[in-house]
Amino acid sequence: MKRLLAAALLAASALGGTAHAGPLDATGQWSVTSRGSAPLPPMGWNSWNAFNSDIDEEKVLAAAKALVDTGLAAKGYVYVNIDDGWWLRRRTSDGRLMIRTARWPSARSKDPAGSFRPWTDKLHAMGLKAGIYSDIGRNSCGQAYTAQFAGQPEGTVEEREVGLYGHVQQDIALFMGAWNFDMLKVDGCGIRAMSPANPLVASGQYRALGPLIDYETLPNTDIAAVRALYTEVGEAMDKTRPRGDFVYSLCLWGSADVRSWAGKVGNMSRTSEDISPNWERMLHNLDAASRRELYAHPNSWNDPDMLFVGTGVFDMDHLTEARSHMTLWAMLNAPLIIGYDMRKASPALLGVLGNSRVIALNQDAAGNQAVLAYDGETVQIFVKTLADGTKAVAVLNRSGSPVDVTLTAAHLKYRADAPVALTDLWDGGERSFTGEAPLHLESHQTLLLKATGAREHPGGLYLSEMPGSVNPAVDGVVHPMADPLVHRGLLPWRSTRGDGEHPLYGGWGGARADATPFAQTPKIAGKTYASAIGVLANSRIEVQNHGFATFTAEAGIDDAAADPDARVRFSVHADGKRLMQTEWMKRGDQPAMISVPVKGAKIIELVAEGSRPLMQDVPVTWGKAALDR
Ligand code: GLA
Repeated sequence: MKRLLAAALLAASALGGTAHAGPLDATGQWSVTSRGSAPLPPMGWNSWNAFNSDIDEEKVLAAAKALVDTGLAAKGYVYVNIDDGWWLRRRTSDGRLMIRTARWPSARSKDPAGSFRPWTDKLHAMGLKAGIYSDIGRNSCGQAYTAQFAGQPEGTVEEREVGLYGHVQQDIALFMGAWNFDMLKVDGCGIRAMSPANPLVASGQYRALGPLIDYETLPNTDIAAVRALYTEVGEAMDKTRPRGDFVYSLCLWGSADVRSWAGKVGNMSRTSEDISPNWERMLHNLDAASRRELYAHPNSWNDPDMLFVGTGVFDMDHLTEARSHMTLWAMLNAPLIIGYDMRKASPALLGVLGNSRVIALNQDAAGNQAVLAYDGETVQIFVKTLADGTKAVAVLNRSGSPVDVTLTAAHLKYRADAPVALTDLWDGGERSFTGEAPLHLESHQTLLLKATGAREHPGGLYLSEMPGSVNPAVDGVVHPMADPLVHRGLLPWRSTRGDGEHPLYGGWGGARADATPFAQTPKIAGKTYASAIGVLANSRIEVQNHGFATFTAEAGIDDAAADPDARVRFSVHADGKRLMQTEWMKRGDQPAMISVPVKGAKIIELVAEGSRPLMQDVPVTWGKAALDR
């Protein structure tokens, strides 16, 4: 036992803590950031998907006016975000950023650097909010990847260094203070693309920086340094806007293990590379976020990138695909950021973007990202538990052919012997079923239904039904690995050149609802669990208790654990106080039956302490984990 204890202490210190306060020690705290303000997924419009960096005031103002005139603003689409292309240069005498005022008349001022204050004043007077864009490095994504597009910074090497690097306090005070923007998106190309080997750097166009991010190879990424840079920006935002009335959007495309730390730093975080208006790319972006249901919470959301509704395969002639894209983003609790030239918006398109029933799902107060009830390459079934305890279900046909599927009451965690009432959220149609419902899906169609039935677990909620309140603060992933389940479609700008698409997004082994960290059905000693939290050993999960009295679970090492010698002991804590602890358990042991009173406690913590420091091959299962009244 002494040896095991020593190993556990070693485990704690390997995870970055000290013997006094290891990462597995209960804190009684909810560690999702309270910085900024995004209790619900932010909604609005951004210039990039519509215009790339070729932007001007007329185009963006037209979008702002359209949001108001079409009623979309009243439905919640209030952020009007300028993306890449607004900057002209950095003035070297005082480091002040200069606006491309030739394209932004209202920004012209006595100081030739210009000011966006009249612009944000105008948006605010329209009842809207204003967003702006920068980069964490010295240079922008446009400079690194799309230099042929309009709106690139001009001047000397130094003048073209428009990113935040070395100017954090000054730029944040300008954006969020003097200019009064409400939202800031911070891209990461300046610390990814400007390696000494980049021909743009080697030829003297840009200074080398890092790279701190190796997008293809996670072990070559300086995760701590990337996190520190983004944290510094967040702290500068806190200082500039102490009331916290802002949104801080991280754009690292799922790199730098951002999955594990975005929740402590910013209000939304990109989970993949840029979306394109084609089906395969939409699937790619969907997949990078869809199995990260436990990493999205009120005030810090997964961001699978902006909507492309209106363009390409999501245009007016493809309303099935457009509705699928919108449905899936709503179910994922993605920020709903329109990327379309609103001057061209038709009633049909406004019907997709403005469907109040679909928006209401995205904006549901419980903040639960949908959980995969069925996860296949052809069909996926997503279920989202709403604040009133009812369910929304989206049945997606990923394929290009029609398909017949069966929705079961069990997918919804409803009883099979009682009727389930369904409302189609797109057309309002109503029907009901008992046990099973046969459904027919056209190519690329997503059925979106609201479902009301008799709960299988009437006394409370399974933790996997409340992912917005469950936070894997320490998820046991020590060496982040790319997630092999993310769809790797053709990249339009690469086609089949090179040796193919490889898994890139770091998230494999992260905690899951109703699945093991490696996407299997949770199983302890031969018993499978349809409802469970799956996580690696050496983990600590925080749970917000919204007035429940009892926590119950069947805990054990999952049958999928590779190592028969691994040992894990499970403990449950309420507001930092330990309520129970199991003996050290091994694979194949019967689950520990846990039932503890938690009445009045705000934070419950579930700790699975492992017998050695690296336990990435040892998934554990909190089977039927539930909070009951
Ligand atoms: C990156 C981001 C995009 C967009 C462009 C601008 O690619 O991921 O969302 O901001 O940069 O250049």
